[in-house]
Amino acid sequence: ANLVLLGPPGAGKGTQARMLEEQFGLVQLSTGDLLRAAVAAGTEAGRAAKAVMEAGDLVSDAIVIAILRDRLAEPDCAKGVILDGFPRTTVQAEALDGLLAEIGHGIRSAISLEVDDAAMVARISGRYTCGGCGEGYHDSFKVPNVAGICDKCGGTEMKRRADDNAETVEQRLRAYHAQTAPLISYYESRGVLARVDAMAEIEAVARELNAIVAKAV
Ligand code: AP5
Ligand code: ZN
Repeated sequence: ANLVLLGPPGAGKGTQARMLEEQFGLVQLSTGDLLRAAVAAGTEAGRAAKAVMEAGDLVSDAIVIAILRDRLAEPDCAKGVILDGFPRTTVQAEALDGLLAEIGHGIRSAISLEVDDAAMVARISGRYTCGGCGEGYHDSFKVPNVAGICDKCGGTEMKRRADDNAETVEQRLRAYHAQTAPLISYYESRGVLARVDAMAEIEAVARELNAIVAKAV
């Protein structure tokens, strides 16, 4: 089954998508991760996206849809995907419906992670990630068992994102409310929306999500 995770920056989309991937054998597709890989590789799309991402604005629909289309065409996606950070505009949502119709599967469930904006700055400014395996951590809310050492892979190289600073977060939240929040009613009107209280602790959010996804897969 194909699932969409909706929610503002810091809502926990990446954290929960990785847990769902392990639990249900689905593939996590994060357009943020795909774009950061394109920036690091210096591709044409990456060069166009870099400054836009650093400003906290949305990368153009054309670039993001092209990147997602290529990734969705890879064979591992046939077992079902968890879309994390896509779609973010109505144009992207309509393009996604078209891409999935081509392979004969629609969106089974779109899950909105509901949070207070005010808490998101603290979540994002404390975030860091393992450079070895991509596992996400937080200075206060999710610390490794042994300080500085990744629980998953034993790696010690931790990274912080260039756009995880207070000013950029404010712009990312504005972009979310202006361009992405309308997708909640887009999916509600299609009868596939579920809402989850994502202010709860990570494990509690995961339990709620598992119950929803178990019915959808
Ligand atoms: P992207 O990488 O998608 O970033 P984002 O949407 O801003 O989301 P985040 O990764 O910041 O947050 P998250 O919800 O995954 O939270 P996380 O789980 O890490 O996009 C980056 C940029 O790329 C965009 O600004 C745009 O420019 C571009 N882009 C990407 N996709 C695009 C598209 N489709 N169209 C156009 N442009 C696009 O959690 C955050 C922190 O909180 C972590 O430290 C975590 O440990 C902690 N945490 C998680 N859950 C909880 C909890 N329940 N309680 C306490 N702490 C928690
Ligand atoms: Zn790791």
